[in-house]
Amino acid sequence: MNSSCAEKIWLSVGEVASRCGVTVSALHFYEQKGLIQSVRNQGNQRRYARDVLRRVAIIKVAQRTGISLEQIKQAFDVLPKGEPPLQRHWQQMSELWHQDLTTRIEQLTQMRDQLSLCIGCGCLSLAHCPLRNPADQLATQGPGAHFVPADDKV
Ligand code: FES
Repeated sequence: MNSSCAEKIWLSVGEVASRCGVTVSALHFYEQKGLIQSVRNQGNQRRYARDVLRRVAIIKVAQRTGISLEQIKQAFDVLPKGEPPLQRHWQQMSELWHQDLTTRIEQLTQMRDQLSLCIGCGCLSLAHCPLRNPADQLATQGPGAHFVPADDKV
């Protein structure tokens, strides 16, 4: 640790594990994946800056929503290195996920609603079933060929 690090509050791996409710091996795994970083003290023991607590909390919440570790790492990459992130940095990071989560919520809502229509049907028709062919937006415009000019239709 350098002299500027001495002013920070450093946490041992056991303290971080206890405060975050995760195992020590989970912390080692997150570190191996580049999601959190530690420094070594003079006794060659890992020490973590306090912002690791927020990082681990974000990892746990993000994983519960289905965000992959790779996506979490990409989001953490916008945070400053070697300094505690400020509120605006956390805000920038959360904005990266906002559109993705909004899109996923819309897709899940659509699937939930379509699923209730399909229960009891079971046709899985490529032409009519929104679960079987969810991106068929032209179907909402009615049957028939949509790219043939109306004058050419028979
Ligand atoms: S299963 Fe028949 S419309 Fe989806």
